[in-house]
Amino acid sequence: MAVKKNNVWSYIIPACGKKERKPKTLQKVLQKPTSFQRLSLLDLSNPISVFSEDLSISLPGSKLHVFTRLELKVITQNFSSSNFIGEGGFGPVHKGFIDDKLRPGLKAQPVAVKLLDPDGLQGHKEWLTEVVFLGQLRHPNLVKLIGYCCEEDHRLLVYEYMPRGSLENQLFRRYSVSLPWSARMKIALGAAKGLAFLHEAEKPVIYRDFKASNILLDSDYTAKLSDFGLAIDGPEGDETHVSTRVMGTQGYAAPEYLMTGHLTSMSDVYSFGVVLLELLTGRKSVDKNRPPREQKLIDWARPMLNDQRKLSRIMDPRLEGMYSEKGVQKAAALAYQCLSHRPKQRPTMRAVVETLEPLLDFDDILEGTFVYTVPESDLKREHRDSQCKKKFKEMNGQHNHYRRHHHPDRRSPMSASAIHSDSDASLSYRGQINVLHSR
Ligand SMILES: Nc1ncnc2c1ncn2[C@@H]1O[C@H](COP(=O)(O)OP(=O)(O)OP(=O)(O)O)[C@@H](O)[C@H]1O
Ligand SMILES: [Mg+2]
Repeated sequence: MAVKKNNVWSYIIPACGKKERKPKTLQKVLQKPTSFQRLSLLDLSNPISVFSEDLSISLPGSKLHVFTRLELKVITQNFSSSNFIGEGGFGPVHKGFIDDKLRPGLKAQPVAVKLLDPDGLQGHKEWLTEVVFLGQLRHPNLVKLIGYCCEEDHRLLVYEYMPRGSLENQLFRRYSVSLPWSARMKIALGAAKGLAFLHEAEKPVIYRDFKASNILLDSDYTAKLSDFGLAIDGPEGDETHVSTRVMGTQGYAAPEYLMTGHLTSMSDVYSFGVVLLELLTGRKSVDKNRPPREQKLIDWARPMLNDQRKLSRIMDPRLEGMYSEKGVQKAAALAYQCLSHRPKQRPTMRAVVETLEPLLDFDDILEGTFVYTVPESDLKREHRDSQCKKKFKEMNGQHNHYRRHHHPDRRSPMSASAIHSDSDASLSYRGQINVLHSR
């Protein structure tokens, strides 16, 4: 990622780069934004605009807390390994705990503290983009940024803690319980609402890095978008697109954006289609461990999405057939549309939300035991095996379950997932696209 490592932004936040910085010592804001409209990065890089050292008062309605590095050290037990959650392209993430002893009025809660890795590929620009966007945008399906730290060269971000981590971890981790169908649909709907909110904002935002690792999950599977480092203001006025260098993650970025650098909200819709396909299939958008024909999920699965007979072939075997057949058909048709190579044929995120909403209520999911009528020809074999089965049941104290849908590719839950350790976060980062086209 092209990141200027020198402190060119220090004029925006004069405190950045200074040796000492008292928290909450606010210089006078010489020129406050006149309206409550969201400020964009361009506003910030305009030298005519004058900002205080404290972004939290420059950003309208942000209510961001400014933390010192020492405070964040204390709340994460000196960034100890026992508090380590994971690491992506920005740097390591640690769990911490805040309460009103740290700042009067602070709600007692766990937080995730993201620390910029000075040797990493991201830098101050991504940190600032995150603060500027997430500091001003508030929605139940966007992760809440509680505050930040900007001291010397240190850049940190403090978020609400999301107990179920990322969708990537939940969906692909080898040893985790499979996500049930209803949770998958709830996640798809929540993430769609987050994107719709961004696209429909007074000043629309294109998220640009929609992928499973950037969807965080609350304890009840409410999905929240995180990582706004690549977010960008949408086209204004008569513009149909934003021309920008191509950045994003391989396997998720829309083909027309990759080819031309022309970015629209429809690029996000394409990426949403990729994640929806991952939710249906339980497969990663790019998986080098698969046979060559199946490594690129979209190429392999998209032709089967609108063929009802073939649909069961691509469904996640870990679901073991426990899904609504009607719901799957509708979700698959939606993914097909989102993944259209023609951006104009893709639905808007509002239309996606409207399509997904009723899918949560489909009740043709058969949970539990299924009554199976044994064909005549099988009876002999059944009889032969019965003694063996009886023994097996005694040993396991369980009943045999015949599942409703038979999957040709059914594998044990252990082998069904693709690549799946925590270190995959960095794998996906290495897959980030960074082709330079000047804006
Ligand atoms: N607010 C949060 N609450 C709980 N866990 C979080 C939070 N933010 C990030 N994480 C976890 O920290 C890890 C690193 O996240 P991060 O967003 O830095 O990287 P990533 O999304 O995996 O990769 P990329 O750099 O491509 O975005 C992930 O496992 C993620 O689930
Ligand atoms: Mg991320």
